[in-house]
Amino acid sequence: MALNEQKEEIHVLMVAFASQGHINPLLRLGNRLVSKGLHVSLAITEIFQHRQRKSSSTTHTTDSIAGIQLLFFSDGFSIEYDRGSNLDHYMETLGKAGPISLSNLIKDNFHGGKKKLSCIINNPFVPWVADVAAEHRIPSAMLWIQPCALYAIYYRFYNNLNPFPTQTNPEMSVELPGLPLLQTQDLPSFVLPSNPFGSMPKLFTELFKNSMKKIKWVLCNSFYELEKEAIDSMAELCRIHPVGPLVPPSLLGEDQNPDIGVDMWKPDEACMEWLNHQTPSSVIYISFGSIIALSDKQFESIAAALKNSSRPFLWVVKASVLTTSDSAGALPSGFLEDTKDQGIIVPWCPQTKVLAHPTIACFLTHCGWNSMLEAVASGVPMIAYPQWTDQPTNAKLIADVLKVGVRLRPESDGVVTAEEVEKCIKEVMDGPESEEFKRNAAEFKRTARLATAGGGSSDRNIQVLVDEIISGGS
Ligand code: UDX
Repeated sequence: MALNEQKEEIHVLMVAFASQGHINPLLRLGNRLVSKGLHVSLAITEIFQHRQRKSSSTTHTTDSIAGIQLLFFSDGFSIEYDRGSNLDHYMETLGKAGPISLSNLIKDNFHGGKKKLSCIINNPFVPWVADVAAEHRIPSAMLWIQPCALYAIYYRFYNNLNPFPTQTNPEMSVELPGLPLLQTQDLPSFVLPSNPFGSMPKLFTELFKNSMKKIKWVLCNSFYELEKEAIDSMAELCRIHPVGPLVPPSLLGEDQNPDIGVDMWKPDEACMEWLNHQTPSSVIYISFGSIIALSDKQFESIAAALKNSSRPFLWVVKASVLTTSDSAGALPSGFLEDTKDQGIIVPWCPQTKVLAHPTIACFLTHCGWNSMLEAVASGVPMIAYPQWTDQPTNAKLIADVLKVGVRLRPESDGVVTAEEVEKCIKEVMDGPESEEFKRNAAEFKRTARLATAGGGSSDRNIQVLVDEIISGGS
């Protein structure tokens, strides 16, 4: 059989949790698989379809995105259920209902007929997908959506391969191959004895102890040149294959390829016009991603530092915070009025376009991995203000490994002062190390493009995956 004819039959099913940070990297990976001749579908929980129908921001139809077929399965809840109200309960129910409805989806769509389902790709928040794949005797892969460094830490933690802080020794530092010495404040919050988040550690225990054995290919949204040491350190234990950065093609110099990501909220495009009127490399961009809500004190420190700096800024303050809610802080009163000629505040922006804009000088970020990769691919230095989960380790990478910026240091009561924010803004924008940060950031922008271009390190990893899928997972 000719190769093209053979590829026609090969189908890959990706399975995602219904959140932007999970769907977008999978869609971009799917896009690369499609460009190498595979057929790709993405199965998402039904709530995504419902949200997309309600959203006016999407230009995609809900049954396919750029040649990737969308399929929907039940998470065990009605559409009206508030999925954010109790994460533990949600994850537990999803873990029971998901396997049954996904299994039915596979039977309905892939049994019989011409489609040969040859690989199922899951992500770390739906580890039970590997069990469903095993039941159907289909080889499975996982797309790890945080840095390889985090995969290396969790793998060693959940398999008890190295000592980590305990209740009796909470402050111990952790020494792991391929990583700098990690203090408590550099470790992901899930591995700390004080960790208050129930469902995520349970999920990761399941993933690293059980599901991993059923996963043939561990892929990562990163690239070799960014995380050489961490990637090499896993070669003997459980090899990880970077296939990223899975960011919009325009950030990688592939302007001819349109982006296929989805947006959780409608971005305010007018801020691009405001950016067009600023001086090159002058604007501070501030965003804390899709989940985090700042406290009053955090708002105060950032607001005071921005005002004192007198530099132009673009700050994303999500709508619920702009109108204030019980659980979140608010902007200090008078701030909007006082700074109306200095900066703008928007509820959600087209972040990847913003980061690529020549007027952006630095990014004050919570260090979510998607934001960090987008800044890396845009060559923008960062000011790290990590909050939880992988973000403290990502901040360590920014300041001490990649050297593309600085990290805000809190006082002993955990609060970051306005003086500290102002000091870090100065350091990144025109301090003695600012030129080094810019040089390093520009170099990673260059290597990100090389990694994803034809024959680059990530492209080669994707090609190996495709070849192995075609040859039946051998
Ligand atoms: C979550 C976790 O919080 C994070 O630690 C983990 O690394 C990934 O999953 P989130 O907090 O949403 O993610 O942050 P991040 O990973 O940075 O993703 C945010 C996404 O929203 C980015 O792709 C960013 O481009 C986009 N965004 C953000 C916008 O499109 N507009 C905005 O105004 C702000």
